[in-house]
Parts: sequence; structure tokens; C-alpha cells
Amino acid sequence: MHMVATPEAAHPQAVAHEDISGLYAHFIGGRRLRPDGSPDLVRTNPAASDEVLGGMRSADAELVTTAVRAAAEAWPKWRNTPAPARGQVLLEAARLMDKHRDELARLISIEEGKALKDSRAEVQRSINITEFMAGEGRRFGGYSSASESAAKFAFTTRQPLGVVACITPWNFPLAIPAWKVAPALVSGNAVILKPASATPAGGVRLAEIYHEAGLPDGILNVLAARGGPAAEALLDADELRAVSLTGSTSTGRHVAARLAARGLAVQAELGGKNAAIVLADADLDLAAAGIVDGAFGSTGQRCTATSRTIVVESVADRLLDTVVARARQLTVGPGIDEHTDVGPAVTAEQRESVLQYLEIGRQEGAEDVYTGSLGELPRGHWLAPTVLDRVQPSMRVAREEIFGPVLSLIRVPDAAAAFEAANAVEYGLAASVYTRDVRAIFEFVEKVDVGIAHVNQPTLGGEVHLPFGGVKASGIGPHEQGREAIDFFTKVKTVYINYA
Ligand code: UN1
Repeated sequence: MHMVATPEAAHPQAVAHEDISGLYAHFIGGRRLRPDGSPDLVRTNPAASDEVLGGMRSADAELVTTAVRAAAEAWPKWRNTPAPARGQVLLEAARLMDKHRDELARLISIEEGKALKDSRAEVQRSINITEFMAGEGRRFGGYSSASESAAKFAFTTRQPLGVVACITPWNFPLAIPAWKVAPALVSGNAVILKPASATPAGGVRLAEIYHEAGLPDGILNVLAARGGPAAEALLDADELRAVSLTGSTSTGRHVAARLAARGLAVQAELGGKNAAIVLADADLDLAAAGIVDGAFGSTGQRCTATSRTIVVESVADRLLDTVVARARQLTVGPGIDEHTDVGPAVTAEQRESVLQYLEIGRQEGAEDVYTGSLGELPRGHWLAPTVLDRVQPSMRVAREEIFGPVLSLIRVPDAAAAFEAANAVEYGLAASVYTRDVRAIFEFVEKVDVGIAHVNQPTLGGEVHLPFGGVKASGIGPHEQGREAIDFFTKVKTVYINYA
């Protein structure tokens, strides 16, 4: 294998460090730990596939043990640090992210491929969650309650769990690690972060930032190792108390089953097949803008992406024309180019999987009504934004998560049929409705079975001080973000004091 660039060369400011072996470094016990040997996996730039970003080895039991031991040894000191003081470390980490925001956005665009504007939004979100969770340090605790007995005082208190693992996907290399790690840390846990092998640099950089912010050594450890085996060994560690993961539904269920056998808790954010519903009275320009943003922004590689548009037949043709007119304005290109709207797929395999879904859709009888143009581009994992019309709810492209810039249009006679079609999938993450009808809005909120419901805005994202998560096949356990995030990372103790 020929490494034309090391991770340092590819992420120059991100990792100005000692050695240049070409393997990504782990971050364990407060320092970078560079593995020896040759890589089992080589990451290339998604927008220039001739350029190597770095290599990775498969994790072995020894690596996992080293990280878990570092966390377990460091934990008592952090758990005994008052929660407001833990919050101060988070606040400083947020400040450092702000200071390094340009470097972090570039790192995300190079590693994951997304457009700089999406990367900047991701950095902002990482800052927001870290800042919000810093405040939770000052609000940390339980409540007191009147006792049934005289001279008795009753209250609840919250305690950290111990060593917890955060397993994160490639599509938000910084923000998902940030929003799992922040509540885990402010609650007083020690963390092993296992970022996706496609995008390890964001997680390692996050740990360095926390280190600089004053987090004690060993409280946040990152394994920049190849997927499967590393995660598996981590799940078996004796010291492990809980796992928060984001990934596919099959991975989530596998991890949940394995941890349930040990009586351990899992928080899992899984797939989505999110619908934007457009009713007859909708503002079609607003709807089209939200749908194009939702379907093609971040190259559709987002669990909240708008993958289905369910539209009432009477306005379907007009909506389709407006969507296609807007999609034509999008420029596909390298994420680090300022004018790019849609970056490449993260890997060749991801691109291949999306192309296969397009083929399946055509075979099932969907009409391929728009495919964007790619123009002159370097060798990379490019995908053109695509709109499929006349998709039936029973088709695979209407039911399965595609995770690429593909929008399926489903035509229905009325609002009731729209809500029914929205629910006719296994997933239940996010949905949106475009309408001005107050009755339809409340019917949507009541009937559509999702964790996040939007009215007159895209299916995407959310605000960090509110809970984020899905129902049905989209999630297991308590939601992330918001004050609820603390519930997962703490245990509650109820205390009765008889002072008679
Ligand atoms: C967002 O869409 O802004 O993996 C957040 C994912 C989700 C997070 C999405 N867990 O895409």
C-alpha cells in the first residue's frame, strides 16, 4: 500500500503531532497513541479517491483493555469532582471548539465529504450541545419531597454510571461524538469513544480539545480502530456500564441484545425513512425548499434526511416542478469548495449501495424524473441528486433507508391517506407536514408515529436543548440531547433520612 498523504498532511492544523506513520492515532489516558504495523483499512478522501487520508488497524483485546483500564482508573477522581466544576471543563471545551471552528469544519469536509456549510453547521451544533450540557453541571441533582412520616426527610440524588461507551457513525464525525460525550462527562462518567472507522479524526480531535480544556487524563478515550472487532471487544469489557450508539437498526439491535444479556443499558439512535407530507393548501415554495434541503443536503447521508415526499395528488405536479427547479440549482462537488451544495458519498461502498437502490426503484416501476448533472469532477464517490416519482408505499425504495441523495415521491388522494402512508414503514424518526390548516397540523402531531414532528419546516435535525430520537425501528432507550440526555448517563438514588 502506498500512502501519498498521512493524516497529518490531510488535516494539517488538526494534527500537528509527533509521528507520521500514516496510521490514525488513538487517544488513551490523555495522550495520542500511535499503533504500529501496517493498516487493515485505508481511508481515502471521498472527493479525491487517489488521496489517502490515513490507515487503521483492527482493534485487538489488548487495545480495548488498555482504554478501559485507563478509564476505570481515572474515573473516581472525575466522579468526585463537583458537577458544576465538571461543567466548567465542558464550557472551556465549547470555547475551544469556537476558537478552532474553521479548522474543525475543514476536517469534517475532508474526512466525511460534506459541503463546508453543512460542516460549519455541524461545528456550531457541537458547540451548542457542549455549552448546554456545561449548564447541566450547575443544575445537576434530584429533588426533595415531603415524607409520609414526621421527622423524615426524603430526596433523590443522581450518580454517574462509571465507564460508558459511545459508538458513533461516520455521517456527523464531530457532532454525534460531541452530543453523546457531553452529557456522559457532565454526569461524571468516564468514556470510551469508538468513532466509525470511516471518520475517526473528528472524535480524536474532540478528545484533544477536552484534554486542552482540562479534562483529567483517562476520562475520554478514543479508539481509532477498525469497526466490528473493536466494538465487539468493548461490549464484553467487565467495567462497562452502558452504551450509547448511533448506527443502523441491525447494529443497534445486536448491541442492545448483547448488553441486555448482561443487564446493561443501551441508548440507540437508529435509521429513519422520514416523510415530508405536503397537503393541498401548502405553501409549495416553502415545501419545495424544505424538501430539497432535507433530501439532498449533506448528500442525504443523515438519519433525518427527507427520503419520502408524500403529496396530495391535486398539487403533486406543481410541487414536483418546484422541487426539480430547485434541485437544478445544486452544485455537486468537493465539500471543501465554498460553492458546493452536495458533496460525495463517504465511501465507494456507500455510493454503490445508493446506486443499487436506484436500480431497485426502477425495476419496481418508479419513474426516474430527475437526475442531477455531475460535470467535471476529480475521481471520487459522486452521486447525483435524484427524484423518483410514482413510488408506491410497498416498494423497497419507499420503505428502506437509502442514506443518499434520493427522493421518492408518493402521490396520495388526501390528508388521511398521507398520514397512513407516512406510518407505513418500520421506522419512526422524523416527519414534517406542510399545511396552513390547524386541524391537519394537530392531526399530524397526534397520528404520525415519530420521535420528532416538524410543521412547515424540513425533517432535519433539531435544537440541542430539546430531546432528539425516534420510535419504532428508529430508536431504543431514552432520547439523546435535551435534559433527558442526563437520564441515560446517571442512576437515581432515593434517600430517606429519619431525624427523629
Ligand atoms: C441531523 O439530522 O441533524 O445519524 C442529526 C444521524 C442522526 C443525527 C442526525 N443520529 O444522522
